[in-house]
Amino acid sequence: MTVRISDRGPVRLLEMHSPPVNALGAKLRAPLMDEIQAASRDDAVGAVLLLSGVKTWCAGADIKEFGLSELPAPDASLNAICDALDACRKPVIAVVDGAAYGGGMELALACDYRAVSGRGRFALPEVNIGLLPGAAGTQRTPRLIGVEHALQMCLDGKPVGASRAVEIGLADRLLEGEPTEAGCAYAQELLGAGAVARKISSGPGKLPRPGEAAEVFAGARQMIARKMRGRHSPELIVQCIEQAVACRDDFAAGLAEERRRFVSCLKDPQSKALSHVFFAERAAARGASRAAARAVKRGAVIGCGTMGGGIAMNFAIAGIPVTVLETGQEALERGLSVVRRNFERSEKSGRLPPGGAERCMGLIMPTTDYGALARADFAVEAVYENLDLKKKIFAALDETLAPGAIIASNTSYLDIDSMAEATNRPGQVLGMHFFSPANIMRLVEVIEGRRSTPETVACAFALASRMKKVPVWSANSNGFIGNRMLAGYMYEAFELLFEGTPPESVDAALRDFGLPMGPFQLADLVGLDLGWRARELAGKPADERKPGERLTDALCERGRFGQKNGHGIYNYSPGSRIPESDPEVAGLIEELARELGYRRGPPAKADEIVKRCMYPLVNTGSALLEEGVARAASDIDIVYVYGYGFPAWRGGPMHYAEQQGLDAVLADIREFHDRFGARWAPAQRLVEAVAAGRGFGSR
Ligand code: 3HC
Repeated sequence: MTVRISDRGPVRLLEMHSPPVNALGAKLRAPLMDEIQAASRDDAVGAVLLLSGVKTWCAGADIKEFGLSELPAPDASLNAICDALDACRKPVIAVVDGAAYGGGMELALACDYRAVSGRGRFALPEVNIGLLPGAAGTQRTPRLIGVEHALQMCLDGKPVGASRAVEIGLADRLLEGEPTEAGCAYAQELLGAGAVARKISSGPGKLPRPGEAAEVFAGARQMIARKMRGRHSPELIVQCIEQAVACRDDFAAGLAEERRRFVSCLKDPQSKALSHVFFAERAAARGASRAAARAVKRGAVIGCGTMGGGIAMNFAIAGIPVTVLETGQEALERGLSVVRRNFERSEKSGRLPPGGAERCMGLIMPTTDYGALARADFAVEAVYENLDLKKKIFAALDETLAPGAIIASNTSYLDIDSMAEATNRPGQVLGMHFFSPANIMRLVEVIEGRRSTPETVACAFALASRMKKVPVWSANSNGFIGNRMLAGYMYEAFELLFEGTPPESVDAALRDFGLPMGPFQLADLVGLDLGWRARELAGKPADERKPGERLTDALCERGRFGQKNGHGIYNYSPGSRIPESDPEVAGLIEELARELGYRRGPPAKADEIVKRCMYPLVNTGSALLEEGVARAASDIDIVYVYGYGFPAWRGGPMHYAEQQGLDAVLADIREFHDRFGARWAPAQRLVEAVAAGRGFGSR
């Protein structure tokens, strides 16, 4: 039974019980509707409590239903349930214990009173899946808490906790003690005071007069232009709330406007792409191993540079004590002062609660002595990319740590198996590739070595989840998933330069596609000197360097390291991140292109730039599937969305390719193969998918 019924005197308890999250699919909606109507008709019932029997109060509409070709019939829809609550003659009290998200919050808004436990929280995260609140959320929320708060909730999709909900008038009562008992007591109290049903829909509530909120709407639109570029549903959300104001005395008219826009969002490929990302993220996180994961009690991080410091922060944020080792006191202090600054910034921006920075710093123990790591059960090595150095560190850790402790490398491309062979515990060795800045970026590639045990992999996944990261499994192969794909993307971007397309045009086309920045802005941000120094150190001969490497090396030789010193592929004014063109660089590109024998032509059009840079991702992604380096196309999408800023509303490169039609993508790749040669040879997996008339398949 998905709705359990019981009575406490005149109070009817309706407990939703549809694990795991009470999503409002057909099997929960139908009985819920029946029971609301039955309680309304029953003279013995004085008030109704709407409760949840699972950890999540209600996660809203069942997102899986949105993929169906038919929308639910109107008489069984979530809107119909909200109408039934509106029509109920008894006061209905939502007892929100856990997350009331999306349609779940809308359900609570259709009730007459909202009581919230300490665990309770409200959110309208529809925007995250390309939708807008479609069960009167855009109409009831501004009536209840005003336009400004409503816009914020609908546009940022973030949860509002229990106390804050009471503070802004979203909830009427903060419940103490066991929620069902406290909810019953609250219902009795309301009945005793003669409280009656009260409907948000029956008056303008906190809605201003038309025209009065113009500035707030303008502010919301500015924020959308700044932070949600390319997305469709945010503007529609603003329009719905504007309609709520315009129709302040006619709830039904505002609702009809919301419905129209909701249906248009549902049909928009953006919502399909964002829902794909939602499910892909969860599939990736449980994707590796079913082995039991041991909980990590104490961490160790080797190296306190940018990556090491960020990884240590992740341990501390997850509440795990961590010892950080550096070779010298000075480097240690420098690293930790950056960590402290980052924590303080997080606290200031609200990412950490008040006092969080100090608490986190208290969990980080600095050391220059391997002996201090002895109690760690999970160590992450995060020194610079040099295999010999890493092997030495692995051997030292193997000597120091207790048997069974796990050693991970944060390498972004080196061979995990070689590191494992430097220890006597190859089963407890694997890769954990974090992305910079490691305390912010959510992706972690978990690299299973040839001898890593299932328990080791499961433990890394569990640790990443505890750090609130999105772990994705990868086999041990040069560059793993993300960097192997990035290589093809960057190669092609440089080819475009040598053929005659200026860097500004390449970057602009890819920004317009939805990436936060183009490849050359990215290269300048990362620093051109990193690759150059590594190549110099390794003594890589000039004729073995890729054309793009030749260009960045030449730039570095002229002291152009990127954003860090104001000159790279672009120039940057002091304190600015805005790229400015430099004729010296254009000249250098031309000169090198001639030297390397490129045939220069007119600049490529945006459409070709996008295909030339995106399709290597698709082709390499297909090869990674074929080779078993990645286990699912959706994992590849998650790597690119969470690690490389691929626009989530396009679903990741593999989903994007499927949306374009794999046959069309393959035809373009074949054409590029004819024009540019071997590097464009179509991956077998892609050819097979097209021949079979199917997509890449899911997990
Ligand atoms: N529909 C279908 N399945 C859902 C779901 C939903 N709304 N919400 C969660 N699930 C599934 C997940 O896919 C996962 O399935 P799996 O076990 O097969 O991977 C399972 O429920 C558990 O989910 P989580 O792992 O995310 O569980 P947590 O406890 O960590 O988080 C949660 C719970 C905070 C509710 C989180 O799941 C969440 O944010 N869900 C999405 C909420 C949302 O976006 N709601 C809006 C839906 S659209 C809507 O309501 C339209 C309306 O306005 C008309």
